[in-house]
Amino acid sequence: MPSPSYHAVQPDMLDERSDWLRKQQRGSTRTKRIIYIGVAFLLAAIIAIAVGVTVSNNNKHKTSLSSTAGTVHSDPNDPSKFDKDPRLHRSFYGFAYTPLGAQMPSCGATQANVTEDIQLLSQLTPRIRIYGADCNQTALVLQAIQDTKVDMQVYLGIFVDDTDTVYTRQRDAVKKAIQDYGTDHIAGVTVGNEFMLNAVGDNGDATGAAGIKAATYLDNKIADFRSTLKSMNLAKTIPVGVADAGSYFNLQLLSAVDYGMANIHPWFALTTINDAAGWTYDFFQNTNVAQAANAPNHPDLYIAETGWPTKSSDAAHASNGAATASVANLQTFLDTFVCQSNANGTKYFFFEFFDEAWKDAQFGGVEGWWGIFDGNKKLKNVTIPNCVLS
Ligand SMILES: *[C@@H]1O[C@H](CO)[C@@H](O)[C@H](O)[C@H]1NC(C)=O
Ligand SMILES: *[C@@H]1O[C@H](CO)[C@@H](O)[C@H](O)[C@H]1NC(C)=O
Ligand SMILES: *[C@@H]1O[C@H](CO)[C@@H](O)[C@H](O)[C@H]1NC(C)=O
Ligand SMILES: *[C@@H]1O[C@H](CO)[C@@H](O)[C@H](O)[C@H]1NC(C)=O
Repeated sequence: MPSPSYHAVQPDMLDERSDWLRKQQRGSTRTKRIIYIGVAFLLAAIIAIAVGVTVSNNNKHKTSLSSTAGTVHSDPNDPSKFDKDPRLHRSFYGFAYTPLGAQMPSCGATQANVTEDIQLLSQLTPRIRIYGADCNQTALVLQAIQDTKVDMQVYLGIFVDDTDTVYTRQRDAVKKAIQDYGTDHIAGVTVGNEFMLNAVGDNGDATGAAGIKAATYLDNKIADFRSTLKSMNLAKTIPVGVADAGSYFNLQLLSAVDYGMANIHPWFALTTINDAAGWTYDFFQNTNVAQAANAPNHPDLYIAETGWPTKSSDAAHASNGAATASVANLQTFLDTFVCQSNANGTKYFFFEFFDEAWKDAQFGGVEGWWGIFDGNKKLKNVTIPNCVLS
């Protein structure tokens, strides 16, 4: 199907991005591992001190909310009691979320951190999506929702690469988490993230031979996960979907899923900030929604990621064609996309919750700077749109 492909616009930049995507899923180097271990020891010491202080404070003032290591004031004995930030509004259809320390092999994600993330996210949206199931992130997120008692649905993720063991260990982690936490807060399970993009390549055609081969591979994993759900009597309870770059779906793949999630980034389409919201909407409609209409099963379609970076770590990547990274431009995108999309029924996951230092360290440029919050969970200098979803 001839359709505008933002990946065809400027292959260099997209090389870089898909490079990032490929590397994102690979392990860290040994050096990185050593750094992580060092940081982990340091953090353990900091957390030990913080917990000590918090516990002693809490013993003194049993009823007051204590300040923990992070930014949310919360009762350390009951995470459902936490101060709401008046600057935040539950205006977003959804948010894309990757917990800190969710990459193999370093991992390191903690319950305290994920719980605080969920306290913040619940003030922005009723739903989130995650990308994989390594490093215990599925259980950490579901435990956090249970402990905070927030109204939150999550699209779990199973990251798929070309090795079966990577899929299998995550399938089993998701299965265990469903057994432990039930299905109340699970909106779906997304099998695969940008597998098609990685398999077909930047200028590849997802409807060609390589795309069919990649879709067949994914279809097998999707079928396997469906049979896992069936063995748990949950086949009709939990939708199974797939996420990929907006230009990388084909009819075979869409026909195999209950939902498709498409990454649609005006930044990578080199748009001006003023054109960004409209471009995103048009791309989604003309490419993904149109393609899904030809699938006999009529899968639900979502924008899996859209957002705007607030800076670049080097001057060379601060602009991408007509797109320029800045907090002011993130504000413009928030102001032109969020409430308008809610009003016209576009279902999207805003990218993303917070800045990810590991992406900056590994890839530089704008990759680490897409958060609404910075890496310390401080809200950036933006005004959150106020059009709270009912
Ligand atoms: C979360 O992790 C960060 C950085 O690793 C750490 O500084 C912070 O104390 C942690 N927060 C909580 C609530 O554990
Ligand atoms: C995973 O997280 C859950 C929830 O915090 C916890 O109960 C469980 O022990 C964790 N599992 C591992 C292997 O760390
Ligand atoms: C839906 O909202 C987007 C902005 O997010 C806008 O560009 C688009 O024109 C709107 N579509 C309709 C049909 O109102
Ligand atoms: C925050 O953004 C506003 C514009 O929206 C600007 O006037 C103000 O100077 C910014 N504050 C900081 C601390 O950057």
